[in-house]
Amino acid sequence: MSSTLSPAWAGLQTHRHDLTYTRIGDLFGTEPNRGPELTIEHDGVVLDYSKNLLTSHTVELLAQLAEERQLSVGIEAMFSGERVNVTEDRAVLHTALRAPAGTVVELDGHDVVPDVHDVLGRMADFSTRVRSGQWRGATGESIRTVVNIGIGGSDLGPAMATLALRQFASDGPDVRFVANVDGHDLARTLHDLDPATTLFVVCSKTFTTVETLTNARTARGWLLAGVDDHAAVAKHFVAVSANTGEVADFGIDPANMFEFWDWVGGRYSLHSAIGLSLMLAIGSGQFHEMLSGAHSMDRHFRTAPLRQNLPVLLGLLGIWYRNFWDAQTHAVLPYDQRLARLPAYLQQLDMESNGKSVGRDGRATPVDTAAVIWGEPGTNGQHAFFQLLYQGTVFVPCDFIGVLEPDHDLPGHHDLLMANLFAQSEALAFGKPEPAAGPSELRAQRTFPGNRPSNTILVPRLTPYSLGQLIALYEHKVFTQGWIWGVNSFDQWGVELGKVLATRIVSELATEDVLAHDSSTNHLIRRYRQTRQAAARAGK
Ligand code: F6P
Repeated sequence: MSSTLSPAWAGLQTHRHDLTYTRIGDLFGTEPNRGPELTIEHDGVVLDYSKNLLTSHTVELLAQLAEERQLSVGIEAMFSGERVNVTEDRAVLHTALRAPAGTVVELDGHDVVPDVHDVLGRMADFSTRVRSGQWRGATGESIRTVVNIGIGGSDLGPAMATLALRQFASDGPDVRFVANVDGHDLARTLHDLDPATTLFVVCSKTFTTVETLTNARTARGWLLAGVDDHAAVAKHFVAVSANTGEVADFGIDPANMFEFWDWVGGRYSLHSAIGLSLMLAIGSGQFHEMLSGAHSMDRHFRTAPLRQNLPVLLGLLGIWYRNFWDAQTHAVLPYDQRLARLPAYLQQLDMESNGKSVGRDGRATPVDTAAVIWGEPGTNGQHAFFQLLYQGTVFVPCDFIGVLEPDHDLPGHHDLLMANLFAQSEALAFGKPEPAAGPSELRAQRTFPGNRPSNTILVPRLTPYSLGQLIALYEHKVFTQGWIWGVNSFDQWGVELGKVLATRIVSELATEDVLAHDSSTNHLIRRYRQTRQAAARAGK
């Protein structure tokens, strides 16, 4: 997208130059109502984007960029089932997962909404039976613990949401998550569990992911060692997948499989059957609340004017900093401990979707794409890395996420938490001038440059509904950016090479075969072989 091809891009470049010496503090000085004026709200979700390095002209130019790139056409194409995942020739219909029953979403002439609700019904039935104790394990005992086995999109979404919504899970089983092929993960998860009361939910869209299948096989061995009845697998293992054949090959009865479809990307799959472990934790009623929240944001994204559209604005602001201010990273800072895994979830959503350097047209992207997404909950981050945000040499736009009403009654805590949230965005934006007094060598140290931009996103309470809204907000932000950058946000070819090389190396570790990698990789493998051989000699 060279500036000669794109008037809006060129306009933004010139405008960025014009704003070089603009300060957020000055913008607030000349616009007394800037805070409320640059706040938009949809269905309780508030976005205050006033503490950004922008004027109304910036917003206008960014909206023109979205128009020039035909973002509205892209949105409509995605919602209506066009094959916008061009490299895999697939539709992208995670929005259909939260479409109310009776809505029609056609894919190749077939309405997918009844299929979605059919699976939701089966999930609800199953989770009710498990939660009520009706579903019995092989020894006749009811299920006390659910272990979700999956990785990437088959782990991060349900794990993040189960942690976030734990207060809605008081009458459900203990739900745990195992993702890593590192055996410590599974070993630590299983160490205090009883096979007779444990249910495994094996989640994998492809059902070929080596980490997940390795963990699932080990878990199956652990179960059979404890229960000693091969028929136990049917009572203790269910699968969530888009690949019935592989599920059956693994030994899970397809009757115990919850289906989703190739038009749901892994990192967009929390609202599909991939959310089964979450539903087991919070119950189907609360799960449906989450779907409703996401649907509310879907409708907003599809219908609100670009300039009043929360996901579009978030996406455009990200483009503004990534492409015109050269921001390499973007921090997501939830001021709520329950959202501790949200940054990790958003890392996959954003970086696996838009971390691309080849466009939808197969050519190198002419502009930078996704930033590095990272973050930790506040206030912990303040005592760890905020120093760099305030006084470092890196420019890091931030999203602060706050919840207005807490779900605990510990006096004083929530005021302190929210005061810290508001104070950090204030300090980042406005800084603090050099003190007039004090030792000269310390005055500069005590100066805060300010002019560091942030968004503040507020929700009334952390509920399944508002979490669904937040998830959809960020999904659509990612879509907005990917569409404008011209990349396909729904494939992930880049993860393949590492998988292929690992498969080759794993077969070399237990041998003495001559190695033909580079000298570093060869050396590392030899070092590992020595340790492995020494352990074998020691009988470990
Ligand atoms: O390797 C990356 C990836 O394909 C992600 O996109 C996906 O979420 C994850 O692996 C897990 O894939 P699956 O659900 O097929 O096991």
